[in-house]
Amino acid sequence: MQTVQTIAELRAALEPHRRSGSRIGLVPTMGALHAGHLALIHQARSTCDVVVATIFVNPTQFGPNEDLDRYPRPLETDLQACGDAGVDLVFVPSNNEMYPPGGRFLSLAIHELTDHLCGATRPGHFNGVLLVVNKLFNIIQPTDAWFGQKDIQQLILLETMVREFNIPVRIHRGETVREDDGLALSSRNRYLTDEERSRAPQLNAELRGLQSLILTGALPDEAALAQALAGVASRLRANGFRIDYLSVVDERTLQPRERVDPRHRYILAAAAWMGKTRLIDNIVLQSPG
Ligand code: PAJ
Repeated sequence: MQTVQTIAELRAALEPHRRSGSRIGLVPTMGALHAGHLALIHQARSTCDVVVATIFVNPTQFGPNEDLDRYPRPLETDLQACGDAGVDLVFVPSNNEMYPPGGRFLSLAIHELTDHLCGATRPGHFNGVLLVVNKLFNIIQPTDAWFGQKDIQQLILLETMVREFNIPVRIHRGETVREDDGLALSSRNRYLTDEERSRAPQLNAELRGLQSLILTGALPDEAALAQALAGVASRLRANGFRIDYLSVVDERTLQPRERVDPRHRYILAAAAWMGKTRLIDNIVLQSPG
């Protein structure tokens, strides 16, 4: 496995593969790798000739009061994990390499898809995500790229970017990897105290409970859905969660739905704070019919 820090080195390393028409798979990450990241790498490994992983804690996607400074950066362990998972090339750029001093004059505007869910409470976050992934696509020019469903809004925005900007990359969705008790793996889980960790799986348990009520037709109208959502919210609050959002949104438009129609696909999504840790989770609902 080769580790490179500059765009020039990365392009030089990939050039022969590009010339020979290899399938180049990309897995972008911010490091602090866990089994969720590694599952994406394994999928890339089994599909592509060359696997590139990137480790970059992207400053433009963090708000002023967020955890940019304390975000974990266990680089040695991460590189070891990449090597063990069969990555060929790891790109670990500096902030200056990705954002050279001298100002930035272009940005990406996103309409509607960031009105709700994480976009509503993390203004500018997805502009930073789209900016950095767009740059990574241009720098690496992968044929394929993998992103996790755990960050479903990010995934849908990236699929939209690729479609609307005609970027020749095939995006693959990786299923959410979870602990045995249902908690979605996240680099931020390491902020949880032992006591908070023991309560954290309730977020997923409540989403699964709502999923089965919806799929069995137990929430046929607006009032029933609203009452069920209120019940979930009050149980989470009673267990110490501070809810950022809890909603059912349309899978395509990401707009909230007050009523569920079994013919459509929805996302049941939640974000909640447990102490100083923001947890997110979602389930993509598809009715059995
Ligand atoms: P990061 O949080 O490090 O996640 C990197 C990739 O791993 C993302 O595609 C994310 O959805 C996926 N992932 C995280 N937890 C997962 C889990 N439990 N199961 C499956 N996949 C999981 O997401 C980012 O970094 C950044 O926004 C990035 C796309 C790298 C741009 O900076």
